[in-house]
Amino acid sequence: MQFTSLQLLASCLVLFGASSAVASDFSASCKSISLSGSILYADCRSESGNYAESALDTANCVANYDGNLSCASGGGYTGSCTDCSLESGTTYLLCDCKNGSGGDPASLIDLNTCISNTNGALSC
Ligand SMILES: *[C@@H]1O[C@H](CO)[C@@H](O)[C@H](O)[C@H]1NC(C)=O
Ligand SMILES: *[C@@H]1O[C@H](CO)[C@@H](O)[C@H](O)[C@H]1NC(C)=O
Repeated sequence: MQFTSLQLLASCLVLFGASSAVASDFSASCKSISLSGSILYADCRSESGNYAESALDTANCVANYDGNLSCASGGGYTGSCTDCSLESGTTYLLCDCKNGSGGDPASLIDLNTCISNTNGALSC
């Protein structure tokens, strides 16, 4: 039992380490995060310490590669993905994205890996 917990902890640390290496991590300094269509809204902290509402079209930051959502500048996933939503209380974008074989598997991406807070403005 204890061994299993340690293994679990080790895996979590590895995952955390791996994702923080590439994370843009806007949610660390933004709050009230929501998605409307493909537009991401959040109140983001600027260098002065004030929070102001910022908006960003996630289609500028995320692409659909053969059914998989990935970070890509000018990505345009909205052209080939449907039923997109933000997983409640998280930064995960969930969509059905068309792949090359006529399917549209569910795909999930953590927007924290694509989007940053640049002095109070969401950016990718
Ligand atoms: C998309 O994800 C599937 C399942 O993880 C994988 O088999 C496939 O190679 C991926 N395709 C691309 C283009 O990344
Ligand atoms: C495409 O998506 C369908 C599910 O919608 C899946 O069964 C199929 O394996 C996918 N094809 C590839 C190449 O990932």
